[in-house]
Amino acid sequence: MPDPLAARRAQALEQYRRRADIYDFELTAFEPIRERAVERLALEEGHTVLDIGCGTGLSFNRLREAVGGRGQVVGVEQSPDMLAIARSRVHDGGWRNVRLECQPVHLSRLPARADAAFFHFTHDILREPGAIDHVLAHLRPGATVVATGLKWAGGWSWPVNWLVLGAALHSVTSLEGLRQPWDRLADALDDVEVETFWFDAIFVVRGRVRG
Ligand SMILES: C[S@@+](CC[C@H](N)C(=O)[O-])C[C@H]1O[C@@H](n2cnc3c(N)ncnc32)[C@H](O)[C@@H]1O
Repeated sequence: MPDPLAARRAQALEQYRRRADIYDFELTAFEPIRERAVERLALEEGHTVLDIGCGTGLSFNRLREAVGGRGQVVGVEQSPDMLAIARSRVHDGGWRNVRLECQPVHLSRLPARADAAFFHFTHDILREPGAIDHVLAHLRPGATVVATGLKWAGGWSWPVNWLVLGAALHSVTSLEGLRQPWDRLADALDDVEVETFWFDAIFVVRGRVRG
């Protein structure tokens, strides 16, 4: 019996194997969203933050500056090609407070009670209940969770949605849930706030772990 999750994982690994070398360039236009999203994490000195689906580590510098030398950034990424770039970034920066895990999220080794989790442009992960549950189980009550990404723009925004479709087709393995990609995550959070940008095609969602 074919395993649909394994097939999607293989597709995602191939997608990011092909994109790894040009990924940072492709993301340049989205950097203001990353800045806004990291700000929404409201990190403090000494915090441990999980960067879920960390890719090439484009968020690491901002995250590690926010948590300081006593804090820790844990990057989880299943693509060895993307993670190799993240690893060089950490090595070149001499960053001792960044730990990397090359695993699918649901199998990753995470700290017991992290203070925050960051899902930046990780649609596939947000649609995988096992991955969300695994991350939430490793956050303390009250921890901040921020998720961002592409979404279908509301209303009759078909020109915008053509662009969303084009971007999604080479970034995700399923368009399922693209209207509200955060809905499964938000079900488990309190104080959920949703902001949208770029003609409603990009979201930044923040919430807090219950308890
Ligand atoms: C669009 S990239 C975002 C990378 C990074 N968060 C950033 O801000 O640039 C999505 C990343 O999620 C990773 N990914 C997708 N599904 C995953 C899973 N189940 N476990 C771990 N990583 C996953 C992909 O390999 C890819 O590097």
